[in-house]
Amino acid sequence: MTRKITTLIVESQQQFEDFFMINLHTWIGAQTTVAKNTQMALEKLNEPNEIDLILCRKNMKGEKVLELIKSFLESKGSNIPIICIGATESDTATTPIESALDIKAIIQASAKALNVTAKDMVEMVLPEYFPVAIQHFHLIDEPICNVYRQEEEDENQYKLYLPKFTQIPPAALKNYIAEGHTHLYIKKDQRLNFVNNINQEIASKLELKTLNQDEQISAVEMSQSLLQEKIARLGVTDETIELAQRNLKYMVQSSKKVSTLKGLLKRLLKNKAGYHFKHSQILMSVATHLMDQLDWGNEEQREKLQFIGFFHDISLQNSAQAQIHSDQELKESNLSPAEKELVKKHAQMSATIAAQYPNTPIGVEQIIKQHHGTTNGIGFSEHYSQNISPMAIVFILSEDFVDHLLKNPKEFNHKLKIQQMRKRYETQRFQKIIDALESLVI
Ligand SMILES: [Fe+2]
Ligand SMILES: [Fe+2]
Repeated sequence: MTRKITTLIVESQQQFEDFFMINLHTWIGAQTTVAKNTQMALEKLNEPNEIDLILCRKNMKGEKVLELIKSFLESKGSNIPIICIGATESDTATTPIESALDIKAIIQASAKALNVTAKDMVEMVLPEYFPVAIQHFHLIDEPICNVYRQEEEDENQYKLYLPKFTQIPPAALKNYIAEGHTHLYIKKDQRLNFVNNINQEIASKLELKTLNQDEQISAVEMSQSLLQEKIARLGVTDETIELAQRNLKYMVQSSKKVSTLKGLLKRLLKNKAGYHFKHSQILMSVATHLMDQLDWGNEEQREKLQFIGFFHDISLQNSAQAQIHSDQELKESNLSPAEKELVKKHAQMSATIAAQYPNTPIGVEQIIKQHHGTTNGIGFSEHYSQNISPMAIVFILSEDFVDHLLKNPKEFNHKLKIQQMRKRYETQRFQKIIDALESLVI
């Protein structure tokens, strides 16, 4: 792929402009030109510069963007492909995309429209120092990899500009732009990590109210990944607390919003979010609903369970780790030795993190520690001691139930699962709570 590709992005929100721009550039090497509204888009399309692809929304700020662009192209006899967020199958001459945050779908549709194959993407010849538009650096406080600048005297030479994880001085970018620069550089093997981090930073700052439900799930999932990474690196700080508060608030709201679990489940199962995020979100909902069925359940305990659902696996880094629920599974997994160690200790580590969070409800730390059955939070246990608290039992059973639900979304059999659980957890204390799980309306 040697030709230069230019995409016209029609987007009014700065964060989404950055999001589309950096992803198209990083994944398929596309250059972008941006129009903030339809008028500007039509002007750009009228210019002699060649545009290979248009990425727009169906409607934006009351404008029928897709319709206007389509009729303009038609009048010009142009057949530039259009990828349209918010369009449906019934919209002709465009590839519809449901969620503006579905990077994979956007990249795949763009690549297809441009005849860029997966092989082209892999074989893309990249310079050792990969250019990143300076505007994207406004989205982050500190870069996750070293950032370089081109030497004034020799364009082939690059000098370290910002070491990784150092605060970007507020005036630095402004001055650098004022000097006439447009790009900073990162090592090419860091570009996917870098763009992933930028995506997460953008997602964590989006106003959730303005997004559709599918986008909200993606935004919070990305924001949770960012939180996990920052907690692992920085621990509990003002920054991670603020991010956790935002995510927790949304996840609590989502888990309460539906009167039955069905709505939430349907929405989540359809979404492409990973196991790690989904199981926490569904767990928060199942555990809360379960408390309604128990005579000793009250609001205080529901709140506690929300908290536990949110924090219990916060020290884990990905879905492969979060799916492990026994020593056996851990042993047989393909995880690296360091990852295995992390999974083994994650209940204890997550409990410590939750305890450092401000206003953690009493008992949360202990229940998180016990959520795989051991009292010290290390490893997994098939045999539960008498010291496991009733709330921990509620949580353990909810997690088992949700795990089954997520791994068998199509053929989920409530009755069968309950039967299996009755066999697995034999003591009276567990059986009583399984009764409640049985009466749960899904
Ligand atoms: Fe979990
Ligand atoms: Fe866990």
